[in-house]
Amino acid sequence: MDLLIKNGTVVTAKESFVADVAVDAGKIVAIGKDLPMEANQVVDATGKLVLPGALDVHTHLAMPFGGTVSADSYLSGTRAAACGGVTTVFDYPVQHKGETILGLVNSKKAILEKEACVDYAFHCCITDLNEGTILEEMEKAVEEGITSFKCFLVYKKENMMVDDGTLARLLLRAKELGAMINVHAENPDLIDLNIEKFLAEGKTSAWYHYLSRPEFVEAEADKRAVHWATHLDAPIYLVHMADKEGLEACIDAKKAGHEVYVETCPQYLEFTCDVYKREDGRNFVCSPPMKGQESQDALWEALKAGFIDTIATDHCPFQSFEKDWGKDNFTKIPNGCAGIENMYPYMLDAANAGKISFERVVELCSTNPARIFGCTEKGSLAIGKDADIVIYDKDKDFTIHVENMHSDYDHTIWEGKQLHGYPVQTYLRGNLVYDNGEFVGEVGAGKYVKRVRKAN
Ligand code: URP
Ligand code: ZN
Ligand code: ZN
Repeated sequence: MDLLIKNGTVVTAKESFVADVAVDAGKIVAIGKDLPMEANQVVDATGKLVLPGALDVHTHLAMPFGGTVSADSYLSGTRAAACGGVTTVFDYPVQHKGETILGLVNSKKAILEKEACVDYAFHCCITDLNEGTILEEMEKAVEEGITSFKCFLVYKKENMMVDDGTLARLLLRAKELGAMINVHAENPDLIDLNIEKFLAEGKTSAWYHYLSRPEFVEAEADKRAVHWATHLDAPIYLVHMADKEGLEACIDAKKAGHEVYVETCPQYLEFTCDVYKREDGRNFVCSPPMKGQESQDALWEALKAGFIDTIATDHCPFQSFEKDWGKDNFTKIPNGCAGIENMYPYMLDAANAGKISFERVVELCSTNPARIFGCTEKGSLAIGKDADIVIYDKDKDFTIHVENMHSDYDHTIWEGKQLHGYPVQTYLRGNLVYDNGEFVGEVGAGKYVKRVRKAN
């Protein structure tokens, strides 16, 4: 036996119990009380929680965006992931006119093979159907394990938006292939109208980023996406849900039996639009923006009631000097914030404070993302699964500072956030990759996760 984690409290999406976990050749081979086994490495987890590694199914690493490239490379982003208990990351490469899905994804894979510190998968953003050839190619992409594709209903000027006809074609094709469409929902025309007005009035601070994309601007597109998906009877996954009205439309569709999945992010659970009034408000600029208290309350309520399916980060940090480009004009601020290392600790802190259960955190951050996106070897502490394991100390206090993170960015929206409880170790397929504040893994050890399609 390679590894025996003894006497910890094993947490699954359904229950928690004291047990030993035995690992051999990267897999969990036994779970039980007082396992009578010898191992090369024995870890005493008495008093600690033993959790499955998280999957962050929404990241933008080394992404060309906003006139620059997001600040975390595949190396630094996946290193930070390991240190935050995330053992699988999903990246979102963006296909542009003339590009193929597999040409793009394979070019990213070639970098990750050398740089990945945790396992990785891809959703592919589609921005142009290339006269229909993309619809053809989707079949091959699904066979290669890319079983979800993203549509931006926004970023029109950036040439990333798809129109409703393209969205409908993609929804139908994905359904036919047992794949799924993920959607970033905001209405670009309303945003542009608002931006034009605010700039003409000299209203240029980060607060106007929020006011140009308020609740109803996201809600219109959420509802439109859900409308198309439900009427075409196709599954849909709404990324980074941030507003109450859109969320309610998703909940109604779920209650009516439609396959609608909802993701939200820690930043929407922690911050409201008030952050944009701060002197450093531009650092919080992301799309969709943080919304009002009513939306935040609705997100927490839905999360507790089981209507939110996943938590992911939308990790897309930029350096301070890049955020400063928009000091006098909010439209020049690159959109995106950091979070990859903070998601699991933040959600676990919420459980430690009694806001939700530890089982629910495991469900939201690990079991559901693995199930929804076809990572059959991931997402649970169970015999036969990959030994992606986090050991969590409920009593360890931790304050987030940019200096104790493992990314390449120079500031974080999470600066000063105090957490009660923190991961002390992360194992990737049985190998220790994070140990008490230090990344101890191997660069390039992360493997591609070939996902399986949904049963139709
Ligand atoms: O502001 C954000 N979210 N930046 C990353 C790209 C996206 O929209 O997800
Ligand atoms: Zn987005
Ligand atoms: Zn995103």
